[in-house]
Amino acid sequence: AQVVQAEFVKSSVRTEDCPPSDGIPEFALVGRSNVGKSSLLNSLVRRKKLALTSKKPGKTQCINHFRINDSWYLVDLPGYGYAAAPQELRIDWAKFTKDYFLNRSSLVSVFLLIDASIPAKPIDLEYASWLGQNQIPMTLIFTKCDKRKKKKNGGKRPEENVQDFQELIRDFFQTVPPWIMTSSVTNQGRDEILLHMAQLRNY
Ligand code: GTP
Ligand code: MG
Repeated sequence: AQVVQAEFVKSSVRTEDCPPSDGIPEFALVGRSNVGKSSLLNSLVRRKKLALTSKKPGKTQCINHFRINDSWYLVDLPGYGYAAAPQELRIDWAKFTKDYFLNRSSLVSVFLLIDASIPAKPIDLEYASWLGQNQIPMTLIFTKCDKRKKKKNGGKRPEENVQDFQELIRDFFQTVPPWIMTSSVTNQGRDEILLHMAQLRNY
C-alpha cells in the first residue's frame, strides 16, 4: 500500500475542471483551515513540499489533484471556517467543495480531518453532519495527535478530544465512520491510512 510515485496534476476551482476521472478512484482531504490537510498529504507520499503548507490558515485555495502510483488520486482541498477570509470567498469555497463532494463520481471516500489537540469546533460538527446527511462515504482523520495538552485547550488529551467528537457526531451517521489517529510530525497513522485507502479501492 506504500506510495512509490506521486505527482501534482492540476488545480481546479470547479468540479467540471477536474482531471477526467476515467474510473480512477480518488480520496479527498477536507477539514478546517490549518487542520493539517496538506501536511498529511505530504506525510502520506513521504515528500516535504509536494502540497504547500503554511502556519497561516487559508493556504490551499483550489481543488488540487495528485496522482499516486499512476493509479489513483489524492485530492487536497481548501479548508473551511477560515474567519479572516472575506465573506464572499468563504461562501464560494463551501459551494465548490460541496459541489465536488456531491458530483465527483470517482470520489471513493472523503477524509474529514479533525484537530485532536483541541476540542472540536461547531463548524466541524456542521461539516460532519452535512456529509452524513448527504450520505457521502467518510473516514475521520484526527490530526496533530503529537501535540500535548495545554491548559488553554481545556487540558484534554488528544484521546479525550477524539472520544468527545465521536460522541457528538453519533447521531449524524447510520454506521459509525472509520477513524484513524494521526500526526504529520511523527507520521503516526500513515500506514493505517494507506492500508485503509487500498482496501477501499479494492471494493
Ligand atoms: P489550509 O490549506 O489553510 O486549509 O490548511 P491545511 O489544513 O492544509 O494545513 P497545513 O497542512 O498547511 O498545516 C497547518 C499548520 O499546522 C502548519 O504549521 C503545520 O506545520 C501544522 N501541522 C500540520 N499537521 C501537524 C501535525 O500532525 N502535528 C503538528 N504538531 N503540527 C501540524
Ligand atoms: Mg492546505
